[in-house]
Amino acid sequence: MKISTIVDSKEKRVAITPETAKKYSEIGLEVTLPRDYGITAMFNDSDYIAAGAKIEKTKNIPEADLYVAVKPSLAKEIKLKRGSYLIALLSPSHNKEILEKLIAAGVHPCALEKIPRITRAQSMDVLSSQANISGYRAMLEALYHYARIVPMMMTAAGTVRPAKVLVVGAGIAGLQAIATAKRLGAIVYAFDVRIAAKEQVESLGGTFISVEDEKNGETAGGYAQEMSDDYKKRQMEKLAQMIAKMDIVITTAQIPEKQAPLLVTKEMVASMPPGAIVLDMATETGGNCELSKRDETLIVGNVTIIGHTDFAARVANDSSQLFARNVFNFVSLMIKDGKIDLTDEIIQAVLI
Ligand code: NAI
Repeated sequence: MKISTIVDSKEKRVAITPETAKKYSEIGLEVTLPRDYGITAMFNDSDYIAAGAKIEKTKNIPEADLYVAVKPSLAKEIKLKRGSYLIALLSPSHNKEILEKLIAAGVHPCALEKIPRITRAQSMDVLSSQANISGYRAMLEALYHYARIVPMMMTAAGTVRPAKVLVVGAGIAGLQAIATAKRLGAIVYAFDVRIAAKEQVESLGGTFISVEDEKNGETAGGYAQEMSDDYKKRQMEKLAQMIAKMDIVITTAQIPEKQAPLLVTKEMVASMPPGAIVLDMATETGGNCELSKRDETLIVGNVTIIGHTDFAARVANDSSQLFARNVFNFVSLMIKDGKIDLTDEIIQAVLI
């Protein structure tokens, strides 16, 4: 059986690293990759060859049984072998039409965003591994635009006060943003609708902010759920008070399958101190900030608003290592005695 990839010039991360190329060979898969496949993530062809992979001169490898990729752009027609499997972040709700065409052409798309958040699937959970790295990189990006230093510094020329950071949404990305801000010496606050987030925020040295409510904002699956109108009103009042005092606000709030909740209004942005930063990680699903724009950095009044969606790709080597291991764990669950086996509930959840 052959495994390959779809090349996407816009994506710096790769789904097969030299490490996983070796692991695929060990479970009997023949790895074939296009020339310079890993270059944007700092992997050389020679490393892949040493790991047992074949390198082809063509850009597309038409003969594979399995294609793995990070987040391929599916806008144009792609031709894959009938009966093959395409395993990647496929945004099924946005790419409905093209995925239907692929299915009609006999291809089996597997959308990795559908990996269930259950213990057994943790080692395959690409969204979590990428969100973790993204939360770290987002914090650094915010600081890059911040014209002040983060930790308190007592110097002969006077004392510099520490930066105040608020993270809204203390999930995977948010917790890593909190940890990164703390390591750099910021005073960190975090807001979440899930009560379980309190302990996690506090264990990282952050102060947890919440709105009292009878309902816990958490579903049985561990995700957030939509709150009542009264809760939302009180949450907005609390956020308005907090944001006016913050130097940096990072928002990561999301409810699965829904538009991101709007939590930072233009009035809140206008109330922030000069030079403040709002980094909205949720622009791909509509954004948590009224002013953020997907993949843009804007200055509104005295505040910089960042809406990029590629933070994991900005750390392409490490994010590829984690992504490729997640994908290998998934593929190895699919292969039994050299054949494709789709019986596992995790595979069933991912197969479109
Ligand atoms: P997650 O589901 O682990 O965390 C989201 C958190 O938001 C949860 O803790 C949830 O309880 C909280 N939340 C939901 N509604 C809220 C509300 N109204 N107020 C406060 N908190 C609320 O998700 P994860 O994996 O951390 O991703 C977070 C966001 O970051 C997503 O929108 C994701 O698409 C995005 N993301 C962006 C990247 C980028 O490069 N910009 C990269 C990776 C993820």
